[in-house]
Amino acid sequence: MNIWQNLPQPFLILAPMEGVTDIMFRQVVAHAGRPDLFFTEFTNVSSYASDQGRWNALERLAIAPTDSPIIAQIWGKNPTHFSALASDLESLGFSGVDLNFGCPDKHVNRTGGGAAMIKTPDLAVECYRNARQSTNLPVSIKTRLGWSDPSEYQTWLPTLLAEHPAAITIHLRTKKEMSKVPAHYELIPDIIKLRSQISPDTKLIINGDIRDRTHALELHAEYPEVDGFMIGRGVFANPYCFTDHTPSRNELMQLLTMHLDLFEAESEKHYLSYEPLKHFFKIYVNNFPGAKELRVKLMDTHSVEEAHEILKLSAIVNQDLKQYR
Ligand SMILES: Cc1cc2nc3c(=O)[nH]c(=O)nc-3n(C[C@H](O)[C@H](O)[C@H](O)COP(=O)(O)O)c2cc1C
Repeated sequence: MNIWQNLPQPFLILAPMEGVTDIMFRQVVAHAGRPDLFFTEFTNVSSYASDQGRWNALERLAIAPTDSPIIAQIWGKNPTHFSALASDLESLGFSGVDLNFGCPDKHVNRTGGGAAMIKTPDLAVECYRNARQSTNLPVSIKTRLGWSDPSEYQTWLPTLLAEHPAAITIHLRTKKEMSKVPAHYELIPDIIKLRSQISPDTKLIINGDIRDRTHALELHAEYPEVDGFMIGRGVFANPYCFTDHTPSRNELMQLLTMHLDLFEAESEKHYLSYEPLKHFFKIYVNNFPGAKELRVKLMDTHSVEEAHEILKLSAIVNQDLKQYR
């Protein structure tokens, strides 16, 4: 079964986000209201190929039952290593493989990976072909419009579409633009045209500044030929962004409690630092009276136990303890 052929029209995807869309956060989002498809954070193909990096790569590729269907996103610049990782992903439970040709991080680009692939299209194609030949899973690509000028999409996208990937996600900005300018929605009609002319069976996914399900449906009404919409930072503003639901304070506290519990369970399997977990607090402790004060207290904690204590006290004040713990 090719997952891309079995999705609703339009479909919604939670964007891959390094340090965010890990096995814990994906379960929280699935609980709030799941997208049609999850992606993992990106995993480096050369780490997987090395003795030292393999264990870490496998930890990043661990999935929960609520993740499925889920696509593994991989990156690197060594075509042989693309083959090696792609060939193992089906047995790890994935429904597809996505190649990251869009990451703007300077450490990633210095190695020749991510968006740097835009500057080495022959190598990008070789990595794609190697992945494609090594797995029965559908192979997709996530990329940007270009490296420095948005018009680069006119040559870059045809190069990729000529390989007939199962799907292509376009983050509607260049690498240089990072996320600092509005996404170039004005280019969607031309991108649709390129897809229709070169590879009509490739699913087209648009990404950049999409807030939530309502926004995605508005864009779909305007551009019905776009098959899917990918939401990244929208989930920071509303973890229920894949639904029409406006969460109550109590529901947000339940999600935070769930995230803390998942973190604790995951920490028993391997070491996890508590500090990065605090980045998530703003997602849940937001948009209700007293949120800022509660957040300040939570940011001062050093362990899951301390965070639970603060939440308990806050719940007593708000008389909703029973409902979420
Ligand atoms: C914290 C963070 C980490 C990201 N990590 C990845 C990644 O691992 N792979 C990837 O393809 N894109 C990554 N991205 C880019 C997003 O997938 C997405 O393309 C970008 O945020 C634009 O979408 P948005 O405007 O909906 O956020 C990351 C973005 C953020 C904010």
